[in-house]
Amino acid sequence: MSNAKNNYTRITTNTLAELKSGGRKIAMLTAYDYTMAGIIDKAGIDVILVGDSASNVMAGHETTLPITLDQMIYHAASVVRGVKRALVVVDLPFGAYQADSKEALRSAIRIMKESGAHAVKLEGGYQIQESIERILQAGIPVMGHLGLTPQSIYKFGTYSVRAKEGSEAEQLIKDVEMLEKAGCFGIVVEKIPAKLAEKITKKVTIPIIGIGAGAAVDGQVLVVNDILGMNKEFSPRFLRRYLDLDEAISGAVKAYTQDVKNQDFPNENEQY
Ligand code: KIV
Repeated sequence: MSNAKNNYTRITTNTLAELKSGGRKIAMLTAYDYTMAGIIDKAGIDVILVGDSASNVMAGHETTLPITLDQMIYHAASVVRGVKRALVVVDLPFGAYQADSKEALRSAIRIMKESGAHAVKLEGGYQIQESIERILQAGIPVMGHLGLTPQSIYKFGTYSVRAKEGSEAEQLIKDVEMLEKAGCFGIVVEKIPAKLAEKITKKVTIPIIGIGAGAAVDGQVLVVNDILGMNKEFSPRFLRRYLDLDEAISGAVKAYTQDVKNQDFPNENEQY
């Protein structure tokens, strides 16, 4: 990539293909703002997803449906400014690509132009094949998302495991093959049986990134707020917490509040 703003070797979609073919795993996390993106980029994450989960964890909505294209672009541009090495992928939000493939392409172009991100992610298989192909034809890298697709929550009715049944599993395999053939550089599979995830991972040459899809996939993705323990109410089986940031932040805020009230802060060295 020319005009790189650093000396790091940037992660590209080719890097991810090499990681898969070399049998090395891919680590992906979400981020929604400049500061967090900078921290996780420096820590060595391969892929940063500006997920539409921003609708939940940043804005407090119950689902991912309300977030708008403008809001996704705001989050994505903030993340891009903080990142020097990772590949930045941005979710096309609900309502920005379902109507037709022209609208899908327009939305993808806006994300790439206005945020500086490197790729987009869309939820769905055969239903959005034309949109995926159109975006790819414009030279925009596309990541697929199959299994539990949260933008369709009101169709599913629950957030439970998908593709347990024969016909749904068969369709998912067909969709994976279609996405590979179309030219997607990777696919996120969410909440599907580990055995099915293993089968599709072996079937295709593009990286399969799992969330609640077991260990046999090519990489893992989680929401950064969840691994840092910022949301104790969300405790699915697939989540591993690496920090109790809720507790740590609460402790720091209590100590600061006490210091202010007791007139311990600021002291002589903390003033001009
Ligand atoms: O929006 C999101 O955060 C996602 C991941 C959890 C895969 O799509």
